[in-house]
Amino acid sequence: MRIIETERLILRPFRKGDAADLFAYLNAPTATCFLELKLADLAAAETEVEKRARDAGSVAICLKQTGQVIGDLFGGGEDEEDDGTTSVGWNLNPRFSGKGYAFEAARALFDHLFRDMGFRRLYAYVEDHNTSSQRLCEKLGMRREGLFIEFISFTRDAAGDPIYENTMQYAILRREWISAAPKP
Ligand SMILES: CC(C)(COP(=O)(O)OP(=O)(O)OC[C@H]1O[C@@H](n2cnc3c(N)ncnc32)[C@H](O)[C@@H]1OP(=O)(O)O)[C@@H](O)C(=O)NCCC(=O)NCCS
Repeated sequence: MRIIETERLILRPFRKGDAADLFAYLNAPTATCFLELKLADLAAAETEVEKRARDAGSVAICLKQTGQVIGDLFGGGEDEEDDGTTSVGWNLNPRFSGKGYAFEAARALFDHLFRDMGFRRLYAYVEDHNTSSQRLCEKLGMRREGLFIEFISFTRDAAGDPIYENTMQYAILRREWISAAPKP
């Protein structure tokens, strides 16, 4: 992806040197859907950064003032679905939530995916207990299109049985974005 600048943020590909910032929040992912991304140590974070640096759909969110990576976004990678559809998602270091950074970053990514990359439809899966992510989807103008009951499991109970989660799908079309969203 190209480097994108917003009022307070720089969105750019991951690069060497990002491992400590990535480890700061992926050593303990807060969302169940990202538990599998948990990093054991800095060496694992370096490997993860190398992988992300090769992934066109992986975006580092950096603070403009300090350059610190405060979270990440995904969307528009090369292995995405046909028909101009791509899934999108976000993961902020919890130290930086509640400041509007996720909305500022996701809005810029959506604009890039729709206007520069020509995607037709963006969608996000959000667990029914993840109210901050649902709120973000709604602020971005996404529509809640479905609630899939016991759709997926990320964790197991004490007996080792999968705990299934209820998952919402949110989506927005390019024509809706272009007609409704102010340019970031
Ligand atoms: C989901 C997630 C990205 C949301 O992050 P967030 O910081 O709460 O989201 P926003 O950027 O929308 O900011 C939220 C609040 O910052 C507030 N804020 C504070 N200062 C602000 C500013 N200068 N500008 C704009 N908003 C500001 C806003 O009022 C906003 O609250 P509101 O939604 O009630 O209006 C974050 O909680 C996260 O990473 N969670 C863990 C990973 C996860 O769950 N990912 C999604 C899996 S489906």
